[in-house]
Amino acid sequence: MPLNRRISDQIDQPKDKREYVRNLFASVSSKYDLTNDIMSLGLHRRWKRHLVALAELQQGHNVLDLAAGTGDLGREVLAVGTRHKLDLNVTAADMTPEMIQVGRERTGSLGTKWVAGDAVELPFPDESFDRVLIGYGLRNFTELEACLGEILRCLARGGRLLTLDFGHPPMPLIRRCYYAYLNTSTRIVGWAIHRDPESYVYIPESLRRFPGQREVMHMMQTVGYETCGFEELLCGTMAINFGNRPAN
Ligand SMILES: C[S@@+](CC[C@H](N)C(=O)[O-])C[C@H]1O[C@@H](n2cnc3c(N)ncnc32)[C@H](O)[C@@H]1O
Repeated sequence: MPLNRRISDQIDQPKDKREYVRNLFASVSSKYDLTNDIMSLGLHRRWKRHLVALAELQQGHNVLDLAAGTGDLGREVLAVGTRHKLDLNVTAADMTPEMIQVGRERTGSLGTKWVAGDAVELPFPDESFDRVLIGYGLRNFTELEACLGEILRCLARGGRLLTLDFGHPPMPLIRRCYYAYLNTSTRIVGWAIHRDPESYVYIPESLRRFPGQREVMHMMQTVGYETCGFEELLCGTMAINFGNRPAN
């Protein structure tokens, strides 16, 4: 994937990347959901439903939607609770106040608790959550391994982390076509929606640096998760990684 020097220089260091990511999401917050629907042709909703189904939610679970953005995953968790008559507690955490604001408006009175927080130092006591769900967040984190450790700290024993993100397709031909699609489509969508072709070029640039599904699985094992694995979607263009905090 070609390097975008303009963005690359701004996300090389963790502190710079954090600021870049926060400013980026602040600037796109009001049109974030529309852009997501257009770029994935609505498929992200199906993948998020699938992630929540894999979470195997049970009565009374405390669920954290981390890097919640506008709160899609938390809303899906509450919808599952309603369908299956389960009482579920949802906390949504994000580091960008503008995304939280849009999320609060979308979520209305559904019962999600919104919290400002950075994944590298979460504002929650040890063992607070039975499930931590992340949609398109991991790729944006600085110090990925430290964040995975921090999430592990906040998971109850036997609790599970599930995370959906862009993947690195294992087949070379698909990989090349996919990267070309991302490089082009992000510019078109950035221009069409934000009048700024560069606003979404961060996606391929962050993916270029992201270790991808296989490496994330190994990283989770190193940090202390067990039963780690991943499920590839659409030939590995997207992937769900998962792992549990050991029960003892
Ligand atoms: C691509 S959006 C994903 C939003 C939503 N989860 C979804 O699936 O549509 C990424 C979100 O991650 C948040 N984010 C990025 N880095 C973060 C961090 N270190 N801690 C908490 N939130 C973070 C951003 O503010 C942004 O709202």
